[in-house]
Amino acid sequence: MGLVPMKTILSQAEEGNYGVGSFSVANMEMVMGAVQAAEELQSPLILQVAEVRLNHSPLHLLGPLMVAAARKSDVPVAVHLDHGMSTPVIEQALEIGFSSVMYDGSHHELETNIENTARIVQRAEKYGATVEAEIGRVGGSEDGSENIEMQLTSVGDAERMEKETGLDALAVAIGNAHGMYKGEPDIRVDRLREIKACTSVPLVLHGGSGISERVFQQCIGAGVRKINVATSTFNQVTEQVNDTFASKGAYQNYFDLHQDEVKGARANVLKHMNIFGSAGKASEVKMK
Ligand code: 13P
Repeated sequence: MGLVPMKTILSQAEEGNYGVGSFSVANMEMVMGAVQAAEELQSPLILQVAEVRLNHSPLHLLGPLMVAAARKSDVPVAVHLDHGMSTPVIEQALEIGFSSVMYDGSHHELETNIENTARIVQRAEKYGATVEAEIGRVGGSEDGSENIEMQLTSVGDAERMEKETGLDALAVAIGNAHGMYKGEPDIRVDRLREIKACTSVPLVLHGGSGISERVFQQCIGAGVRKINVATSTFNQVTEQVNDTFASKGAYQNYFDLHQDEVKGARANVLKHMNIFGSAGKASEVKMK
């Protein structure tokens, strides 16, 4: 089916009451692993890269690769810029062909966040791209460089954000944080339900690494449609490489290393697609 707008995938997930993983990738091997998992399970897929990761994975290199992988895939794939902070980077992603961008103005006052989000929604419209924004503030930080304190999303702010910006997907802060959790996170499913009751766009849960299967299911039941997963995939790739090294000793050639990276990414994506309920749903996603 190939590259599709993220909202097409999410509206089908809304209809079918399941979640779709948005998996962070950093190189070709991780892209290949994620796409292989999606094709094996016939699941829709969202591939993403965050702006803070672009110094490791430059957008002009990784971006076209992600788009090419999506176009060639036989399942619906959206390509998404995660935590876009600056307009030039968001514009660059749209020009490359990303079918979705997140504008993260969560560090601004509400008024500024709304104004900036509305502007990005207008810009994305001409590309037919989806826009996600964040209200409240997810804890931690995408690349682990800061320990941002979580600010719970207020229901009223979420309502205003939706009405005044025309955005397509809303990321909420309900006790979730980026990176691995120190203990069991206190995910406020009650607040999620309140937000869901007052908004109509698909809701997004960031900080997917380390949330239990039970809590994922509760969040999906309460209206979460997109779930971001980054750290656990990076960790699984590293573990796969370390395991081979520990059991077989030093790599004899680069291509075994390549294969282990693909395998590590694929395994984590498979696991989450099964938990989120998106396996087998690829054929239900229809372009409107
Ligand atoms: P994790 O690193 O906790 O999986 O979070 C991913 C994320 O939310 C990216 O925006």
